[in-house]
Amino acid sequence: MNKENKYKTLLIAAKVLIYKDVDDIANMANISRLIMEHFPNHWIGFYRVQADKLILGPFQGPIACTSINFGKGVCGAAWQTKQTQIVDDVHQHPGHIACSALSNSEIVVPCIRGNSVYAVLDVDSTELNAFDETDQRYLEELVTYL
Ligand code: SME
Repeated sequence: MNKENKYKTLLIAAKVLIYKDVDDIANMANISRLIMEHFPNHWIGFYRVQADKLILGPFQGPIACTSINFGKGVCGAAWQTKQTQIVDDVHQHPGHIACSALSNSEIVVPCIRGNSVYAVLDVDSTELNAFDETDQRYLEELVTYL
């Protein structure tokens, strides 16, 4: 199955899996796992905005940084700009926060309600150039289901 079709399948599953009457943590936990099952990657998970920081939320993968400041790293940039960040080579990216030495590229999608970012979805790959506009389009749609 090509990437686009895998995302279409993932989105159908996500719609069924996400419950509006539970808190974000429960849904983010299942969504992290769902993405991992469709697209095995090094690290997949959420950071949630809590006061003036992004705090580690549900994830799949190795232990990660607990707290990220506004505007810092790729996650903080997604929060600040309210725009998806695609980094083809994290080693060339000023400000990248290295939670794992094995990460080589990354996509971070802001989760927005109203006009505010309340979380970010971060996917890290051991491959360089792992993410493109297709990932961006489908992951941006996915987070609107939350
Ligand atoms: N690399 C991220 C930090 C989070 S970890 O990759 C899980 C960043 O630069 O914001």
